[in-house]
Amino acid sequence: MGKIIAIAMPKGGVAKTTSAVNLSIALANKQKRVLLIDADPSNQCAIAFGLPDDPEIGTLFNVLSYAQTLDEAINTTENPYFDILPFKSISYEEELLLNEFSSDTKLFEHQIKPFVADYDFVLIDCPPTLVGMTVNVLNIADSVLIPVKSSMFSIVPLPKLMGRIEAISNNGNPNLHVEGIFLTMHEINTRASFSAKKELYRLYPNEMLTTAIPKNIAAEEASFQKDPVIIVNPHAKSSKAYEQLADEIIERNQSMNNDTFQSFADTDYLNDL
Ligand SMILES: Nc1ncnc2c1ncn2[C@@H]1O[C@H](COP(=O)(O)OP(=O)(O)O)[C@@H](O)[C@H]1O
Ligand SMILES: [Mg+2]
Repeated sequence: MGKIIAIAMPKGGVAKTTSAVNLSIALANKQKRVLLIDADPSNQCAIAFGLPDDPEIGTLFNVLSYAQTLDEAINTTENPYFDILPFKSISYEEELLLNEFSSDTKLFEHQIKPFVADYDFVLIDCPPTLVGMTVNVLNIADSVLIPVKSSMFSIVPLPKLMGRIEAISNNGNPNLHVEGIFLTMHEINTRASFSAKKELYRLYPNEMLTTAIPKNIAAEEASFQKDPVIIVNPHAKSSKAYEQLADEIIERNQSMNNDTFQSFADTDYLNDL
């Protein structure tokens, strides 16, 4: 299937990276073949998995600069269902080169899109912006998964992101749709979290996923342990929630595929008449 899901939100600190790394492992634990690509030059996915800063490790930067193909650059892991492509810990000079990559809107289409069919899901962790690398990712993505921290400041940038998704789907990537919006760092018993949830359901009733990721100290602690919380502490509340999010996404995609199958079946039926 090779479904490309961008994890995007033009705000830092809403748990994009935490969700990308934990959801990847949760999907892999359910025997889905997953490739996690870090498209954020801050290279945080590598940090989340404790990957060394080693020139032997294949990176997205190498792929975008034509130093490696995607096949050459992908790193396998001890989990047979999970592969990873970190961004790269880049120098100042390399950071300047990035502006050139970002302006080539066909780069991801040539270098990444044709090579991902062997995976069930390709999750791409985006930077906290709506320009440059994020636009390149949205140009090739099938869907956008949107983490929203349970706070008003995190809801405010959402209409801008939705507008951008609509613009890109009207201009060159008609497949692009919203995979879902979900709450992160949610605290059940606080008025702020309750208000955030209520507002999101009012604004985006059809896009809201039922899973909310609770605020959980284990998630924060795991970042010091060179592996995501779902590996370090699989029984933590946040780990269980990411398992539930994986189930929800798998289920939604199965029902979407069935719908597609249904419409093809209908067409065949019409052709037979
Ligand atoms: N469920 C959670 N509970 C507690 N802390 C969390 C949770 N999810 C993420 N965090 C913490 O919030 C901070 C921001 O998360 P991060 O994934 O880096 O956000 P982003 O990628 O959107 O900038 C990190 O310090 C992370 O450990
Ligand atoms: Mg991040």
